[in-house]
Amino acid sequence: MTYDLTLRIWRGDAAGGDVVDYTVSAEDGEVVLDAVHRVQAQLAGDLAVRWNCKAGKCGSCSAEVNGRPRLMCLARLSTFPRGDPIVITPLRTFPVVRDLVTDVSFNYRKAELVPAFEPTAEQPRAPFRMAQVDVERSQEFRKCIECWICQDTCHVIRDHEDNKPAFSGPRFFIRYAELDMHPNDARDRKKLAQEERGLGLCNITKCCTEVCPEGIKITDNGIIPMKERVVDVKYDPVRFLRRRRRA
Ligand code: SF4
Ligand code: F3S
Ligand code: FES
Repeated sequence: MTYDLTLRIWRGDAAGGDVVDYTVSAEDGEVVLDAVHRVQAQLAGDLAVRWNCKAGKCGSCSAEVNGRPRLMCLARLSTFPRGDPIVITPLRTFPVVRDLVTDVSFNYRKAELVPAFEPTAEQPRAPFRMAQVDVERSQEFRKCIECWICQDTCHVIRDHEDNKPAFSGPRFFIRYAELDMHPNDARDRKKLAQEERGLGLCNITKCCTEVCPEGIKITDNGIIPMKERVVDVKYDPVRFLRRRRRA
């Protein structure tokens, strides 16, 4: 069934902007990105919007839909109240380039800070043996499509621009966790994440987990185990005695 749908889309650039109403026809079964494309095709050819796969796998079409960060290609129109406008704004945590496109290079700078996998000296590079439980953990974290929705949602940087230099964000905490939990990685990623990458600033609100389109349990399976490992190392009585002896 076809019906009229109003999209209230933020238009502007780094200097400022505002929402503009566009009414297009929509059909049952479509997603928000379909309607945005119709606006672009019929009413606003210069509307800037990033997308690629339209299948929830490239991570490009992230935006805030009625205030909630999500992938536009997975946001079914049938889940919004029929007759109400749908408000679409760019990711709030990152600087606007134009319209719905933001500059997400913050995330690539944080990615560069993650030290590469470093095999332990005593382990051969191949064949590479891992317990199934470790494999599954890595696979869960590797489902990340780098949509940056968790990064956009986390209040530590969403509401506090000044935290950005010190905070890598949930996407990278699971990257540190993935490597730290790898049985053959030689580096101590816990200390690095906690002391230099802002893991200590995370107060486990779990908002990142709630919005992840891949359903990765960022907090329960990545952040909390990392925090527990940091505490284990710090308060392990044997290590404590060793540290005291060295002091
Ligand atoms: Fe997106 Fe989830 Fe990856 Fe965060 S962890 S960037 S929300 S896929
Ligand atoms: Fe932010 Fe997720 Fe921690 S939303 S505060 S990184 S639990
Ligand atoms: Fe690829 Fe939406 S267009 S995730």
